[in-house]
Amino acid sequence: MGRATAVEFARQGANVTIADVNAAAGREALAHIKRVGGRGLLVIGDLARASVCQRVVRRTVEQFGGLDVLFNNVGIQPADSYCTLEDTSEQLWDRILGVNLKSYFLMAKFALPELRKRGGGVVINNASVQGLQSQKGVPAYAASKGGVLSLTRQLAIEYAAEKIRCVAICPGTIDTEMVRASAAREPDGLEAALERFGKQHPIGRIGTGQDIANVVTFLASERASFITGEYVCVDGGYMALGAWAR
Ligand SMILES: NC(=O)c1ccc[n+]([C@@H]2O[C@H](COP(=O)([O-])OP(=O)(O)OC[C@H]3O[C@@H](n4cnc5c(N)ncnc54)[C@H](O)[C@@H]3O)[C@@H](O)[C@H]2O)c1
Repeated sequence: MGRATAVEFARQGANVTIADVNAAAGREALAHIKRVGGRGLLVIGDLARASVCQRVVRRTVEQFGGLDVLFNNVGIQPADSYCTLEDTSEQLWDRILGVNLKSYFLMAKFALPELRKRGGGVVINNASVQGLQSQKGVPAYAASKGGVLSLTRQLAIEYAAEKIRCVAICPGTIDTEMVRASAAREPDGLEAALERFGKQHPIGRIGTGQDIANVVTFLASERASFITGEYVCVDGGYMALGAWAR
């Protein structure tokens, strides 16, 4: 989702900084940006650390002269986090909350002064349908995403007067490395599991990175200037089906 969105921003003329702990993934995204004629910058590091978040903002401003849009997208859902609350170790809880929620707070904290200097801006947070409705066995991940939605509302009301908007997206199942890793662990195997996940969505397929990129770039644009403190489900109707799905 990060890669597709970075490329879409570049295609629409934005300069894009990518931050990723995985250097190879970051370089691949950077290469895509260059292929569409865009200008990109890669910062490698763990976004759960304040010093890294600070560096991402500082290097962006040095390179591009300012900051207008922050897309908080980083997230993890490790295989060993699919368990009950009692079986969730403190270490795993801290790591998931650190990457999925604290990094969003830190990136916003360091980005806000730069957005203010530009006379306004937009923060878009990638939450999840799992922040809206619950299923068993994902306590830390679900809590992190509920926190992202709350943080989004908080930021929106605190900074609206400064023309800084904050919006969340709640993706359904999207075809990414994260989902492929989880589908590969299903008893029916990768391809069958992806198809089955797709059928759970009323639209009949799982989403793509481009589905996300289209919405994020819209939310970042002036066309979305009256939207703040809200979330948008990009989920093929999954949340409309809701608890009646079974
Ligand atoms: N894939 C889905 O179906 C789905 C659904 C709802 C929400 N989400 C959320 O969407 C976001 C993107 O997910 P994705 O499926 O594209 O994941 P992904 O695993 O495919 O990509 C995530 C990227 O984040 C990087 N990353 C992980 N930990 C990091 C850290 N500590 N610091 C810096 N970079 C780090 C990874 O290297 C990777 O490049 C996440 O917040 C995820 O929770 C995903």
